[in-house]
Amino acid sequence: MVTSDSNQVAVDVNEVTFRYGNIRALDALSLEIPAGISFGLLGPNGAGKTTLIRLLVGLLKPKSGSVRVLEEAPSRRMANRVGYMPQLHSLYTELSVRQNVDFFAKINRLSDGAERARQVEETIRLIDLWSRRNDSVVKLSGGMRQRVSLACAIVHNPPLLLLDEPTVGLDPELRVTFWEHFANLNKQGVTIVVSSHTMDDAAHCDRLAFMRDGRVIAQGSPDELRSNTRQDTLEDAFLYYVRSGGEHAA
Ligand SMILES: Nc1ncnc2c1ncn2[C@@H]1O[C@H](COP(=O)(O)OP(=O)(O)OP(=O)(O)O)[C@@H](O)[C@H]1O
Ligand SMILES: [Mg+2]
Repeated sequence: MVTSDSNQVAVDVNEVTFRYGNIRALDALSLEIPAGISFGLLGPNGAGKTTLIRLLVGLLKPKSGSVRVLEEAPSRRMANRVGYMPQLHSLYTELSVRQNVDFFAKINRLSDGAERARQVEETIRLIDLWSRRNDSVVKLSGGMRQRVSLACAIVHNPPLLLLDEPTVGLDPELRVTFWEHFANLNKQGVTIVVSSHTMDDAAHCDRLAFMRDGRVIAQGSPDELRSNTRQDTLEDAFLYYVRSGGEHAA
């Protein structure tokens, strides 16, 4: 397992603005994510979560401001240190579950045959699809494809995971399993950035950024965000910040 130093900052976003033509998707956004925690990006459709994650992976470049990931400017060279799960799956549907996971292990430089086979098996068992390992992805349900997509992102044990809505479509039992696995990875020093719409996911995170209109409107631990707004639920805390309109750090 490759881990990051727990005193380090895993992700440092400084005053980043990003536009798609006339649409300003990120608006002078700043964010610092310490290594070794689970960090949630929460916000409505169009808030800028996917755009931010694509900047962290190096698929997009900021128009202004700076992005540092594991102390480097993001680029494809870092692929072996970053696990990326896109919001829209990028699986090879005609290949089997095992062939997909093995392909991502291979391109992310898990080259040794026996070690790679062990890692691929362990990851497919984690997503509970070992019995379907030889089925082509086209034969799987939506939630099962979601699980394969996650397996492809984590199979090479990177120190940073950038997961765009990883729990969408998962049944409740598997959601619990995933969060247990994420907590174990955190203990090993892995940093996990997760975008989500559900406050169930949010409650599992060590820290959260509430996003809206390309900005971070509040940050803090789930407890801080609830107590600072005197709200019982994270939904109500989010609405409180939306209605108060400002930018807050808990
Ligand atoms: N490829 C694109 N071309 C043009 N505009 C885009 C593109 N991708 C995103 N946008 C716009 O950028 C803004 C932010 O979109 P983004 O996908 O980052 O939001 P999101 O928070 O991930 O939303 P969701 O919860 O729906 O996934 C939206 O206004 C969206 O319409
Ligand atoms: Mg998105």
